[in-house]
Amino acid sequence: MSNVSAEAMDPVAKLDDAMTEAPGAIDAAKSLDDLDQVESELLGKASPIGEVRRSMGEFTPEERPRVGARLNEVTGRVQELLDEKRAHLERADEDRRLREEGIDVTLESVIFPRGTLHIIQQTIDEVVDIFVGLGYQVADGPEAELAWYNFDALNTPPTHPSRLESDTMYLDWGDPADEVLLRTHTSPVQARWMESNEPPVYVVVPGRTYRTDTVDATHLPVFHQIEGLAVDENIVFSDLKGTLLHWAREFFGPQSEVRLRPSFFPFTEPSAEMDVSCFACDGGDPGCRVCSGAGWIELLGCGMVDPNVLEAVGYDSTRLSGFAFGMGPERLAMVRYGIESMKHFIDNDLRFLEQF
Ligand code: PHE
Repeated sequence: MSNVSAEAMDPVAKLDDAMTEAPGAIDAAKSLDDLDQVESELLGKASPIGEVRRSMGEFTPEERPRVGARLNEVTGRVQELLDEKRAHLERADEDRRLREEGIDVTLESVIFPRGTLHIIQQTIDEVVDIFVGLGYQVADGPEAELAWYNFDALNTPPTHPSRLESDTMYLDWGDPADEVLLRTHTSPVQARWMESNEPPVYVVVPGRTYRTDTVDATHLPVFHQIEGLAVDENIVFSDLKGTLLHWAREFFGPQSEVRLRPSFFPFTEPSAEMDVSCFACDGGDPGCRVCSGAGWIELLGCGMVDPNVLEAVGYDSTRLSGFAFGMGPERLAMVRYGIESMKHFIDNDLRFLEQF
């Protein structure tokens, strides 16, 4: 005897119906959200299966095992179908995300070529590093310079030939009191530095310099210099020599020989030229394109700072002394790498530049 109302469907038939409908409903779910909805329609409290589950207590002890067995079977099967469909939808979701967020590693990439520092800048950096290692500071000054700093403060008389327009490029010329020129060397920074700094002085000054030269294998109208200046108590000529020998052997290698020859600069006394042994021949080869057989290459000018220069900037020349030097990184690079013409430095030919 059943106590289920007469109009109510046989619970097993209800479960069978539910089982028949379930695969279609589950299959129709297009998304995980759809599937959640379908799950509650198939197994939720208000679903036919849910109704049977809730009314289990109402069945007779004879009916209960039969309905219960079918309920478990149908619930289990529907749950299985739901789980399969869920796994399928999750995989599809994952595939779509991978497709949308994926990067095409076969796409051609844009390659930005990386340059290097120009060989002249590399040379400057290397020379400056050696002096920084000795405790020198690095200074700079204007390229458009007053004639006073370029010449007068450096003990260069008004009649000196280097002041002529044939050697010096003037921006403002005529009145000696405020002539402006493109500095012909980095030496004006000697005076500028001492004017605004107390001794002791140990500075190097790399920078661009200008002269009215036409371009050839050994001249450029725009070139570079690295100035050095040391002013302190008790500085003597052997300090200059020792410092430059140390530098030359750091830069050219310990096998390098150097020599000092007497020379003249208005702002040093005594003055000297420093030569380094030829890189291209051992000397005595008259055909050597670098030294023409001399065996030595003129490298830089130097000397003991003239007391007049110290006095011009207000330093006490009876208590202080110093040395100065000026070298050209273009020439240094040519000597070091066997570059036969300065023109290469400004031709901007990558086949040359990329070698450094
Ligand atoms: N200024 C000199 C030149 O341009 C080089 C130099 C610098 C000489 C310092 C002596 C001392 O030739």
